[in-house]
Amino acid sequence: MYEQLKKEIESFERRTPKSRAALERSKPWMPLGVSSNFRSYEPYPLFIEHAEGTQVRDLDGNEYVDFNLCFGAIMAGHSNAIVIKAVEEQFRRGTMYGMPHVMERELAEEICARYPVENVRFSNSGTEATMHAIRLARGYTDREKIIKFEGCYHGVHDAAMVSVKPKADKWGSVSSPNQVPASAGIPQGAVDATLVATFNDLESVERLFRKYPDQVAAVILEPVPMNMGVVLPQPGFLEGLRQLCTGHGALLIYDEVKTGAKLGRGGASEYFGVKPDMVCLAKSIGGGFPLAAFATSRKVMDVIAEGRVFHAGTYNTNPTVMAAGLATLRHVLTAENYQRINKLSKRLVEGCNQIIKQSGLVAYAIGCVANGAVMLYPSEVKNYRDWAAIDIDLWRHYWFAMVNRGVMPQPHYWDEQWTISVAHTEADIERHLEVFEEVAPLVAAAQKKRGVLAAAH
Ligand SMILES: Cc1ncc(COP(=O)(O)O)c(C=O)c1O
Repeated sequence: MYEQLKKEIESFERRTPKSRAALERSKPWMPLGVSSNFRSYEPYPLFIEHAEGTQVRDLDGNEYVDFNLCFGAIMAGHSNAIVIKAVEEQFRRGTMYGMPHVMERELAEEICARYPVENVRFSNSGTEATMHAIRLARGYTDREKIIKFEGCYHGVHDAAMVSVKPKADKWGSVSSPNQVPASAGIPQGAVDATLVATFNDLESVERLFRKYPDQVAAVILEPVPMNMGVVLPQPGFLEGLRQLCTGHGALLIYDEVKTGAKLGRGGASEYFGVKPDMVCLAKSIGGGFPLAAFATSRKVMDVIAEGRVFHAGTYNTNPTVMAAGLATLRHVLTAENYQRINKLSKRLVEGCNQIIKQSGLVAYAIGCVANGAVMLYPSEVKNYRDWAAIDIDLWRHYWFAMVNRGVMPQPHYWDEQWTISVAHTEADIERHLEVFEEVAPLVAAAQKKRGVLAAAH
C-alpha cells in the first residue's frame, strides 16, 4: 500500500471506529461479519444507521451524499415518500397473502407497457429472475447450454456463477475464454453447460454456436455490463447478437437487473432499439423493496402455463413489494424524472471529465442515464480483460478519498458505478464534483509516481 492511500485509510479509520467495532462483533456470528460477500472490504465496511433521500449516515454520525444507493437498487431515493405511503397503506391490508390479488395483474400490465414483452412472472431478487429465465429458456428450446459473457454477473445460482471474475491464469484465450467456476460448490455439469464468450466480440459468440450446433438455449447478457464499471456495447454488437440468436434458434435474454429501470422507461431494449426475447428485472423497479421479474412473449411463457417448466415462490408478489413496485413505476420512474436525471448525469459526467483533464489523471468518466463511473484506464474498457487491468490501490485511493470528504461516489469495488436517483438535486451533483476536484489531483499525483496501470493485479 502506498503512502497517500495509507493516509486516506488511516483517516477513514479515525472517522469510523464504530463501524470497525460493529464488524468485530458480527464476525463470530456471520462469515466475514456480513450478509453478502460484496459488502465486505478492507479495512472494514461502513455500518449504516440511517438513510433518507440522497443521504446516508454511518454509526459514527458521518453523513455521505449517497451515489451507491444499495448497488443501484434505489433509483427512487432512500425511503421515497410516494413509495413509503403506498407501502404503509398496504401494511394495514396485510403483508403477505400467498394467494392471488389484483396488483399482480396491474404491475404485469405496467411492465408490458414499458418493455417489449407480453407475459410476466414475479420473484424477489435478480438471482431468482435470471435463474428462472434460464430454466424457462432451456425448457422452451429443449436445449441445455447457455452462453454468457466473461465478467458479466447474473446473480449467485449455479448457471450464472461461471467466469464472473476469472483470474488471468485461468481465463484462457480472449477469443475462446475458459469456463471458470466463480465459487467452490458449483457442479461440473453446471460449468459445462455455461459457455463463455467475450463481450463486444461477436466472433467469440459465433464460434460457440458453430461448435455446439442446436445445443444453445439462450445468450444472456447485461446489455450495458455494470459489473465492470460501465461498459457500453459497441455499435452493431447487440444487433449481431440478435441475428445470431434468431439464426440459431436461441433466446436472447437481457439481464436488466441494473439497466431495466435506469436507462429509461423501456430499459435497454428501448435505449438501444434491439429487442431481446426475455427481460430480467430487479433492483430499482421495487423502489427500495425486494421485487424482481422475468418477462417474455406469451408463446415462451406458455411453457410455464403448460406445466412443463415450474416456477413458484412463497414471497412472490407479496402485496407489500407489489404496492412499492406499482407506486415506483406509476409515480416515481416517470418520463419527466428520466429527463431530469439525464440532465444531472450529463453534468456529472462532463464535470468529471473536465476535472480529469485539468488534474492530469489518466482516466475517463462515462455515463449511461442514471449510471456512470470514473474509469481509471487510459482508453475505453470494452470487455472484462480490459477492465481487469485496473490499478486497484489507485482506485481505493479514489474511493476512500471521496468517502472521507463526504461523498460516496459509488459502492465499494471497482466493478461498480454511481446511480443518480430521483432524489438527487443539482446541489448533490455539484457537491460530488467539488469533492472530486479536490481528490483528482491527489490520485493523479499517485498515478504519476506509480505509472499508469503499472500496479495492476
Ligand atoms: C446484472 C445483475 N444481474 C443479477 C444480479 C443479482 O441480483 P440480486 O443481488 O438481487 O440477486 C445483479 C446484482 O448486482 C446484477 O447486477
